[in-house]
Amino acid sequence: MNILRKIVFFSFISIVAIGCKSCDPDVPPIDPEDDLTDIPYNSTPYELPKLIDFPPMLIPDDNPMTQEGVQLGRMLFFDPILSVDSSMSCSSCHLADKGFADGQRFSRGVQGGFTERSSMAIMNVGFIRHGLFWDGRSETLEDQALLPVEDEIELHEEWPNVVEKFKRHPDYPKKFREAFGISNKSDITKELAAKAIAQFERTMIVGAGSKYYKVFVLGDDLPSDEELNGHTMFFDKGSGLPDAQCFHCHAAPLFTDPDFRNNGLDSVANVADFKDYGRGRVTNFPFDNGKFAAPTLWNIELTAPYMHDGRFQTLEEVIDHYASGGHWSPNRDALMDSISLDAEQKADLVSFLKTLTDTSFINNPAFQSPF
Ligand code: HEC
Ligand code: HEC
Repeated sequence: MNILRKIVFFSFISIVAIGCKSCDPDVPPIDPEDDLTDIPYNSTPYELPKLIDFPPMLIPDDNPMTQEGVQLGRMLFFDPILSVDSSMSCSSCHLADKGFADGQRFSRGVQGGFTERSSMAIMNVGFIRHGLFWDGRSETLEDQALLPVEDEIELHEEWPNVVEKFKRHPDYPKKFREAFGISNKSDITKELAAKAIAQFERTMIVGAGSKYYKVFVLGDDLPSDEELNGHTMFFDKGSGLPDAQCFHCHAAPLFTDPDFRNNGLDSVANVADFKDYGRGRVTNFPFDNGKFAAPTLWNIELTAPYMHDGRFQTLEEVIDHYASGGHWSPNRDALMDSISLDAEQKADLVSFLKTLTDTSFINNPAFQSPF
């Protein structure tokens, strides 16, 4: 072996020896392409708007709101990268002009199948304490955001594939670094993606731009006679008008309810006969069969069709349903005993519901696609 060969040989051996430190299974190999620490990480806290009377938002300690997290979440919400064939995103079934529902009875998923229930409006979801979905089965927005990707009907993709797509993407590794301070591309996880989506959804607060807020909260505007009558009936305030009982299950300011209820959509003699068990499928209590979350009524004018199966096309049909008391079943809520409303009173209730429309929310540039 001549001198030169010896040098080459021994330097090779020492490179292998040093390199072998990283062969230790506990120490992952450092791929220079993987390192993100040159990108600055100083996230900026995100201040949520505060509306009068609104309760504090539920924000998990391990997912504080940041500008960078919200920005990443917004990208993920609108990006078809989450679906198996890059054809659909969350926003395909949660459209701004439909109040972030989708205007369909059931939603068509990525391979043409239909969801079992009607899409829900994403607004003020950061305040929901009874769980997400019609049956409350996801406790947090972080839990919820993991599900549509692997749902066979919805996006029908697998998270490990999505995470690989993020790692190879020209922008996402940087965005995950800026939002969560990760050091390597390999630190990107589905949990971080879900956290970012949850942060974005928490910013989707509706109300301040509505007539309801101006009239009944701030007192800066006057209601029409019809709207005032509707308000009186909705909140059971008397004055010679019938009690419509609505506020018991759709309480201001969120116009929803912590309890799951049956509002008389189906007539069944036995609680085992409900077509959709709703809350009962989550708790396995027959007492909960046929019960569902009372959804928010903000922007209700925009989110037709109505109910978990989208059976009513118009608010007039909804009010007719309530006025009739709905169908009897052993789980029907006692508040559903029929209320008598004449045609004018029904129309007044609809006028009141329309004061909950907030077009500044659906047109807010912060909630449109960033692409
Ligand atoms: C194919 C249509 C479809 C897609 C895609 C979809 N959703 Fe939904 N979403 C629905 C339906 C349908 C429901 C109601 C399902 C139920 O209750 O069983 C729902 C419910 C929700 C809710 C519950 C709202 C509430 O008030 O409880 C949230 C939050 C939500 N979706 C967020 C998302 C996010 C985030 C994504 C993307 C990761 C997404 N959705 C993708 C159809 C879809
Ligand atoms: C006993 C409780 C209860 C009362 C009283 C009640 N609701 Fe509801 N409401 C619900 C529940 C639960 C749902 C969802 C039912 C489902 O889809 O299975 C609902 C759904 C709705 C929907 C459809 C929401 C959507 O996004 O599809 C509207 C609109 C509505 N209610 C308006 C009213 C009005 C107006 C009144 C008063 C006349 C009223 N509710 C009284 C419990 C109630």
